[in-house]
Amino acid sequence: MGRILIVDDEPGMRRILAANLQRDGHVLAEASGVIEARALLARDEYDAVLTDQKMPDGSGLDILHAVQEDDSTTSVVFLTAVGTLELAVESMRQGAFDFLTKPFVPDVVRSAVKRACERTALLRENAVLRTAVQKFEGADEILGNNLAMQLVRNMIARVAPTNSTVLITGETGTGKELVARAIHRNSARARNPFIAINCASVTETLLESELFGHEKGAFTGADRARAGLFEAAHEGTLFLDEVAEMSPAAQAKLLRVLADGEIQRVGSTVTRRVNVRVLAATHRNLQEQVQQGRFREDLYYRLAVLPIQLPPLRERKEDLSELCRMLTARVAAEIKVRPRPLSAAAEAKLAEYSFPGNVRELRNLLERALILGQSAELQPEDFPLQPPPSQPLNSEMTIEQLAAHLPPHLDLRETLSRLERLLILRALEGADGVQAEAARQLGLSRSDLGYKVGKYSIAGILQPGGQRTMV
Ligand SMILES: Nc1ncnc2c1ncn2[C@@H]1O[C@H](COP(=O)(O)OP(=O)(O)OP(=O)(O)O)[C@@H](O)[C@H]1O
Ligand SMILES: [Mg+2]
Repeated sequence: MGRILIVDDEPGMRRILAANLQRDGHVLAEASGVIEARALLARDEYDAVLTDQKMPDGSGLDILHAVQEDDSTTSVVFLTAVGTLELAVESMRQGAFDFLTKPFVPDVVRSAVKRACERTALLRENAVLRTAVQKFEGADEILGNNLAMQLVRNMIARVAPTNSTVLITGETGTGKELVARAIHRNSARARNPFIAINCASVTETLLESELFGHEKGAFTGADRARAGLFEAAHEGTLFLDEVAEMSPAAQAKLLRVLADGEIQRVGSTVTRRVNVRVLAATHRNLQEQVQQGRFREDLYYRLAVLPIQLPPLRERKEDLSELCRMLTARVAAEIKVRPRPLSAAAEAKLAEYSFPGNVRELRNLLERALILGQSAELQPEDFPLQPPPSQPLNSEMTIEQLAAHLPPHLDLRETLSRLERLLILRALEGADGVQAEAARQLGLSRSDLGYKVGKYSIAGILQPGGQRTMV
């Protein structure tokens, strides 16, 4: 059901069309030509326009243009007796939604109008979403535009105004706290406190009293009563970072606040009501923690009402250039140095890197390069990158895994020769220098091994008995 404008110079035709479309519950308006249609378009919003082609004061294409000037999400359907192929092609090319010919089949017109309304609704919904997504305060602080980050922005815009608990997951440095702050800032609680606590940085017993407060004498050292963070965050937001590290006791108490809005200070039987929105974050897979019995399932379901998953930087390399550009500018302004662009080679080096520390690591690398770099552009040598974590080589490692440890640019022949030489040496060592045994281990004939031993000048390195003199 939509609002439809019928444009046709023949009153009879308008009447038949209106009678047909009314059956679908549309709200209808009629215009006898281009001038009248323009006036109506300027005054009201329509979901679809059904237009004739030839009218005394203009054409269907004029209507199409008028609609596009007014609101390009409105869909236009042509219904014309001059059904030439050229016109059909031209109108579609210019953005008409459909092209039908007279005499018309009522059902065909009805279904075309229905689809036109659906398309309009979809376009408008997208447009609303896009502006909502771009609109939340601090949206441009969160950099990145790949699909996963668009989803993140979309979620922030949607969840911020609600009071729901949000679980933010992602590796270290992916921006979990950034997102939590954006949610708070765009909620009705924005003027009230935002309190963050890292559950991993306090001991188990302290965490409980930090969060819920304690009474005087509740434990040794509690020489006076103290309100906890839940009370301090009253009417605001409490951000529980690294929530997976909470003790079972603290988890039980948290569950209670989330369910009833009630807390008890440690050592007290008095319940207090608090109005706090909880945002939680973890770098762990919380579902897995539940399966392993480390995290309460009921708490997990309360926390994960609205999940936001932040992608690791290595999975959004398409954002890397923009991130480099924007972060360099930000960091330079913060530390008061002149911003400098990255050289193409430096960018290529970063593009190959896996960023275990994600955006935080990139930020730190840029800061270091801006301070220590000597040239007008930041160079590859200004970015000392961590080598990939070396996994111990073992017999279970596949060739693919082994290859993943090798640098991308290497001389294939030389690498293979060196590898072959090393493997032969190792086999000879394992066989106490007995070539027949080493050949067997390597699946080579004795003469093949003999040839390779000569080729790689291994003879003499290993004495029978396994003593290695030099490599
Ligand atoms: N998408 C992003 N756009 C801009 N800056 C970002 C983005 N993501 C992270 N950062 C920056 O990286 C740094 C780390 O972000 P944040 O503290 O939010 O990460 P985190 O996920 O909470 O990490 P951790 O798990 O280690 O606590 C901050 O300086 C933050 O501003
Ligand atoms: Mg954090």
